[in-house]
Amino acid sequence: MGKFKEYLILTSIGFFNFIYNLGLFFEEVSFLGFKKWYWKLKKEIFINYFLDTPYQIIKREAPKLEIPEQELIYGETPLITMKKILKLINCNSNDIFYDLGGGRGLTVFFVSKFLNIESFGIEIVPAFVKKVNQIKEKLKFYKAAFIQANFLNVDISKATILYIASTTFTEETLKKLTHKTKELKKDAKIITLSTPLKGEHLTLLYSKKFYFSWGETQAFFHIRN
Ligand SMILES: C[S@@+](CC[C@H](N)C(=O)[O-])C[C@H]1O[C@@H](n2cnc3c(N)ncnc32)[C@H](O)[C@@H]1O
Repeated sequence: MGKFKEYLILTSIGFFNFIYNLGLFFEEVSFLGFKKWYWKLKKEIFINYFLDTPYQIIKREAPKLEIPEQELIYGETPLITMKKILKLINCNSNDIFYDLGGGRGLTVFFVSKFLNIESFGIEIVPAFVKKVNQIKEKLKFYKAAFIQANFLNVDISKATILYIASTTFTEETLKKLTHKTKELKKDAKIITLSTPLKGEHLTLLYSKKFYFSWGETQAFFHIRN
């Protein structure tokens, strides 16, 4: 392929990606735009990541972490998608939300505010957790908490809603995560992306496609038996 053709293809992909994410942003704003905390959170995310993007952070920190690089590929769940996911499961004020691989913490902050429930993000990349804790303190998101750890080594037994953006996770990690969900109590809800978890202790209820920062992806909804 000629250099010019390659350039055109990459520019077109970049352009369509920009328009796609802009569409998601406008849908998000139509739903959350009247909330003060939403704009404050957006501002903090912009300030904290404008000069040091998630992609730069991962590139810098990945060599120090002992997990496959493909599992650190960064992408985000748009808050409008998170809202649609939560609508499909029956949530109540006693629920406890865990995001395994919490990234910049947006889903955790959102769930803690939207449902007013305790929400936890477990994230292995120290720079994300440092920034996310600073934002939490500044904006007083008291129901959100973040732990810097490999999620495979964290006690998740109190989670009643477990969210795993697992699209890039290896088969081995998915197997370990399947085993880990045995820690959960009966009726806990487990949502994974791209691949369902298969175990006798889990029932796959249904699956549905949603829009994510990287494109349309199937989400799988399970329940702990
Ligand atoms: C695709 S991002 C999802 C971010 C966020 N959950 C969302 O949906 O917007 C996946 C995140 O999982 C983190 N991660 C991957 N493997 C992990 C592990 N073993 N323990 C903790 N975090 C991990 C990555 O660093 C990355 O921030």
